Amino acid sequence: MLSFQHLLHAHDLTKEDIEKILELASFFHNNKSPLEWAKGKILASLFFEPSTRTRLSFESAMYRLGGNIITLENGGQSSSVTKGETLSDMGQIISGYADIVAMRHPKAHSVQEFSKQASIPVINAGDGPHQHPTQSLLDLYTIFHFHKRLNNLKIGFVGDLKFGRTVNSLVELLSLFPHSEFHFVSHPTLKIDHEKVKLLRAKGHIVHEYEELSKAVPQLDVLYMTRVQEERFSNPEDYKLVKDAYTLTQESLVGCKESLTILHPFPRVKEISADVDQHPAAKYFEQAQYGLFVRMAIIALILQLKQD
Ligand code: NCD
Repeated sequence: MLSFQHLLHAHDLTKEDIEKILELASFFHNNKSPLEWAKGKILASLFFEPSTRTRLSFESAMYRLGGNIITLENGGQSSSVTKGETLSDMGQIISGYADIVAMRHPKAHSVQEFSKQASIPVINAGDGPHQHPTQSLLDLYTIFHFHKRLNNLKIGFVGDLKFGRTVNSLVELLSLFPHSEFHFVSHPTLKIDHEKVKLLRAKGHIVHEYEELSKAVPQLDVLYMTRVQEERFSNPEDYKLVKDAYTLTQESLVGCKESLTILHPFPRVKEISADVDQHPAAKYFEQAQYGLFVRMAIIALILQLKQD
C-alpha cells in the first residue's frame, strides 16, 4: 500500500513509497514477460500539453500490465473543456469510465483541480511549471541504478531552474535523503526560487549556486541537464536571451568524476551536444527507457494489483 490516493506532488511521496516503487520497478526491469496484473482495468490518458515519453510510457506501462487505455485525441482539443467544462466535472465523469488517470495540463494545480471530485486515483503527469512527480521517480530509479544509493550524492541541476517542473519535483524528493548536496547552475533570470534554497539549507543540505557550469562539473556525482522551457516565457525576447546559455560538450566534461552520470528528462534542444552521447557518463537514454518500468510500478502499486 502507498500512503496517498492521488499522486499530484512530490510531497505526496514518503521515503517508504519511493522504496516500494523503486523495488517493484526493478522487478519489472528484470522480468519483461507479458503480465495480466491489470486485466480488465482502464487507464484514462489525458494529455492537454505535448508529450512523447511520459504519455507513451504510461500507455505502454498499462498495456504491459495487461490493462487497457482510453485517451483524448488532439491534445484535449476534442474534449468538452473547449466547451467550458470544468476540470472538476471532468474528473467526476471520467471516474465512471476508467480505474486510474494520468493527466498533463499547461496550468499549475490543474491536475489537483481535476482530482477534487474524482473517485479514482489521479496521477499528475506534469502541471505547467509546477510538478512532475513521476518523472522524478524515474530519475531516482536511474540514479539508484547507477550509484546504488540515494543519499550522500552531489547533484548538479543545470538550465531552467525557474520553470522546470522536473527540477521542482526532483529537488524535493532528493531532499528526503541525508547529505544530498545541491549545485544549481543557471542564468541569473532562471535561478531556482530562493525560498527553496532556504528550505534545503534548513533541512541541513549543502547548496551552491553558480553561473559557470565548469565550477560545478568536477564535483558532481549526477549532472541533471534541462531544457529552457520556451512555452513558459511571456516575452519571446527573454527566451532568446537565455536559450543557448548552456551546452554540455565532451570538452566541458574534462575533469569530471569517473562515476558521474548525466541525466536529462528530454526533450533536449541544444543543451547537450550529440557528441556527449558517446561519453560513458551519458545515461539519459537509459533514463527514458526506465520510465516504463517505474510507471508500471506506480500503476500497479496505486491500483494494488496482485500478481496472478
Ligand atoms: C519534461 C516535462 O514535460 O516537464 N519532459 C518529460 O516529461 N520527459 C521536461 C521538458 O519538457 O523539458
